[in-house]
Amino acid sequence: MDADQFEGIRRYVAFDADASATLADFYTHVAPHVPDIIEDFYATIESDPEARAVISGPEQVTRLKRSLEQWLIGALRGPHDLSYVANRKRIGLVHVRINLQQRFMLTAMNRIRLRLEEHVADFHSNDHELQRRVRRALNQLCDIELAIMLDAYHEYLSERIRSAERLATIGQLAATIGHELRNPLGIIESSLFLMKQRSAKLGLNDEQLEKHHEKIQKQVLTCSKIIANLLDLARDRPPKRRREQARVAIQRVIDELSSKVEVQLTVAPELTLDVDLDELSLVLSNLLSNASDAMGGKGTVHISAERFKGGTEIVVQDEGPGVPPEVRDRVFDALFTTKARGTGLGLALCRRIVHAHGGELELVASREGACFRLWFPELPEEPGTAR
Ligand code: HEM
Repeated sequence: MDADQFEGIRRYVAFDADASATLADFYTHVAPHVPDIIEDFYATIESDPEARAVISGPEQVTRLKRSLEQWLIGALRGPHDLSYVANRKRIGLVHVRINLQQRFMLTAMNRIRLRLEEHVADFHSNDHELQRRVRRALNQLCDIELAIMLDAYHEYLSERIRSAERLATIGQLAATIGHELRNPLGIIESSLFLMKQRSAKLGLNDEQLEKHHEKIQKQVLTCSKIIANLLDLARDRPPKRRREQARVAIQRVIDELSSKVEVQLTVAPELTLDVDLDELSLVLSNLLSNASDAMGGKGTVHISAERFKGGTEIVVQDEGPGVPPEVRDRVFDALFTTKARGTGLGLALCRRIVHAHGGELELVASREGACFRLWFPELPEEPGTAR
């Protein structure tokens, strides 16, 4: 949502500077009741199995109550400017990412609206005109909040659909090409094997011939990798997520990498990660192989992981030249590549995998090198199993 759209919403609900000031004034009266409003808000979530299901555990409940208090204070006190819109949009995105259905935003907002309205009657109890203005401003505010939050859902889902459609089309093409190429490649590979056998049998000890055999072998391997990537991209199966020890899982991927790149790992031993290990392996090996290419084989990749917002965050940072600003928005687009020999499938595949986990993969700003941030939500707790 941009500045014009925000102005449009304000105009639509007729929310002006006077309404902002009225709410700030009302805040001084309602402030002592904020903890009660938040307890009621949370109790309502608790009483609804579907709403409760998105909550990952007691840690998150504490955070949620604290965030909600800040949200409520900010909503009433303002200022209702562009930084407020950016903040609300970010909050909206948090709900999209935890898979909270939109209807809960409407019902939860209504709950808050009603609880706030209950306190209007004893605010300047003789001034009915002021009370009318407060009620009106509260309704306008809740509508603006909802409009921004729902807009975040719309933007996010439109982007997902756009990228899913693109991937689906490319995926179909990828599957066809992948299957079509697998057979001829298999034939090349077995013919190469027979040729080598034949050379040995005939006692041909020709260095040039062997060099060409090696070259063919290497190129066949590269083609096989591309085909594997194409088929992975085409396959759209849900991940089989399990709780893993983060450090062990990441270390295993590093150990299995064919291109050796120096990695510095900073992960607490007790940290867990709810992922499909094979899929994580694909993502990390793609990121590490990109990092290795970007650094020309020299330098270190720094991988760290920690708990973050109801899940586990992994940061992968290299010491290469970084991603040029003009292509940052496109790096996850399938078929987009800056490498002379790249296919543009790796990062698209990584993002598809992370999204299938309900997680996030983004390129974040960094002072040095390219820095990718992955976030995997934790699986909902089984009843009776505390984390
Ligand atoms: C009027 C409606 C709501 C408002 C104003 C609201 C506000 C907030 C805010 C301010 C945050 C913190 C975002 C951040 O800074 O990262 C948040 C996060 C969250 N909200 Fe809501 N929320 C609403 C509805 C709900 C509902 C109905 C649920 C149902 C379960 C919910 C679950 C969560 C969860 C799980 C988080 C993430 C907490 C964390 O891990 O830090 N919210 N919400």
